[in-house]
Amino acid sequence: MKVLVATEKPFSKVAVDQIREIVEKGGHELATLEKYTDVQQLYAAVADADALIVRSDKVTKEVIAAAPKLKIVVRAGAGYDNLDLAACTERGIVAMNTPGQNSNAVAELAIGMMIYISRNQFTPGTGSELKGKTLGIQAYGNVGRLVAAHAKSFGMKIMAFDPFVPAERIQSEGVEVAASLEDLYAKSDFVSLHIPATNETKNSIGYALLSKMPKGGCLVNTARKEVINEPELVKVLEERQDLKYITDIAATNQAELNEKFGKRVFATPKKMGAETAEANINAGVAAANQICDFFATGNRKFQVNK
Ligand code: 3PG
Repeated sequence: MKVLVATEKPFSKVAVDQIREIVEKGGHELATLEKYTDVQQLYAAVADADALIVRSDKVTKEVIAAAPKLKIVVRAGAGYDNLDLAACTERGIVAMNTPGQNSNAVAELAIGMMIYISRNQFTPGTGSELKGKTLGIQAYGNVGRLVAAHAKSFGMKIMAFDPFVPAERIQSEGVEVAASLEDLYAKSDFVSLHIPATNETKNSIGYALLSKMPKGGCLVNTARKEVINEPELVKVLEERQDLKYITDIAATNQAELNEKFGKRVFATPKKMGAETAEANINAGVAAANQICDFFATGNRKFQVNK
């Protein structure tokens, strides 16, 4: 079988080498398309692919249509909002993700972002410490849980809100459970987002929640830009001169945010949460193993289009 790694934002070489080793050991062939600049290159590359590994690359219905032999696509990472699941299902293509594999990298970045914004983006002036502050974790999945664990060592008080995780499990990890999402925002000096981009979550973080934050509150986004209601973010930042926003996924209106709010906002130049050698290897190797296992035994454990 031909396995294609198509990554506009490539894995590290060491990760690709390990992916190749696993794929070839499984009796398959590896092809790579890295740093492509035009979707036409992706269409051409998938033409003879039986399996596809991507990162945030968009696997649209057009990509699926251009890949007549495709049997499995694995998003090497957690969020699979970049895969057209309906198009995959219609063609009988198995879609998977690799949950947990890059979580620590993202969690460490969330902590780093809190420090960066609290220390005036590393420019002169008096900043503040994380110790003693309350951190609200919105969604207590693989990343949220690690952010909570890391933040505890800074002496932060941790709260979480996640309607899909039993309260007892969250509490058993020394994390307080917020009564509601509104309660989380009202009590948290920092809110760290770890929700996926779905029809329910898109545009869901806006004025109503952010205006509840205590004085000096900061929203930390290492999740997806789509979950933010950007016009409402502007409105609340205009009204509340004390609030801050730091994100790993530049807003569509980031230039406007930067111009209007200066040091109160920050966006990384390109999403870098999972950009560590370790996360590249973990997610890439998991994707390669999942594909080989699927072809060898039919294992669909991480299928997301069931
Ligand atoms: C994920 O969903 O796993 C992260 O957002 C990482 O995305 P990336 O592979 O594009 O860096």
